[in-house]
Amino acid sequence: MKKTTFLGAILLVLGLALPAVPANAAGEGAEAHQQSWSFSGPFGTYDRNQLRRGFLIYKDVCSSCHGLEYISFRNLSEPGGPEYSEDAVRALAAEYTIEDPNAEGGEREGVPSDRWPDPFPNEQIARDANGGALPPDLSLMAKARTISQDFPWWALNYFTAYQEGGADYIYNLLTRYEEPPADVELEPGQYYNDFYGIIAMGLPLADGMIPYEDGNTPETLHQYSLDVSAFLQWTADPHMVSRKQMGFRVLLFLVGFAILMYLVKRRLWRDAH
Ligand code: HEC
Repeated sequence: MKKTTFLGAILLVLGLALPAVPANAAGEGAEAHQQSWSFSGPFGTYDRNQLRRGFLIYKDVCSSCHGLEYISFRNLSEPGGPEYSEDAVRALAAEYTIEDPNAEGGEREGVPSDRWPDPFPNEQIARDANGGALPPDLSLMAKARTISQDFPWWALNYFTAYQEGGADYIYNLLTRYEEPPADVELEPGQYYNDFYGIIAMGLPLADGMIPYEDGNTPETLHQYSLDVSAFLQWTADPHMVSRKQMGFRVLLFLVGFAILMYLVKRRLWRDAH
């Protein structure tokens, strides 16, 4: 009896501790091709150059349809992110026109504290421009989606600080456009994606589309997709690295404290034994 209560308690604690699994909008059972990310694992960190390349892809391609409403220009210069200089961020913000009822004419130049401007003035115009479909905001997309994994992987994820399901989801979405199978009929404005199914977003990227300045990063659909997925992981979870580091320090402290307490206990009880 006692044993089963104990077992039940352990299962309950495990159940509470496992993170809620985000929704997976992709076609049921579509197997994801998992990538290896610099931010994987308990000690993973973002690769600043990759975040910069990913931001470039977002800015030059995705931002014509997708907003990034939780990101302000100034976030791009903060530590742990793409870390652009403050001058670069000021110049970038100034390229955009921000609606502001307090400004003369209702508009003014962007400043670093402004949020990323939405590509469309309202939902109806966004839908009209996209054949009725609404391009979702991408700030938190990497948290809202994940890939489905078989047991025991999803159970082990908890212990390996698994964070990359959302990035893998976006990567797979961007790289798996295909001709539809014979039994799938597409309406105008619909595309086929082997990972997602029928989707109202056409393939937004292509090999060689965006030049990378560093001269040695491949300009391929694969690389663009990796980079923009990593960038969107950062927008969804900008403090992931400091959180992991803090978690590790806390664990180290607890282990040290446990050893100390054990030694204290031994000393205090020495004479009683
Ligand atoms: C021409 C407009 C357009 C561009 C450019 C575009 N998208 Fe989309 N995107 C859409 C639309 C429309 C949808 C909604 C699709 C649907 O509901 O079927 C969408 C949906 C998505 C989704 C959500 C899929 C889901 O699970 O619900 C993601 C993620 C996404 N886009 C990422 C990107 C990224 C990353 C880029 C840049 C590389 C990009 N998009 C460029 C129009 C666009």
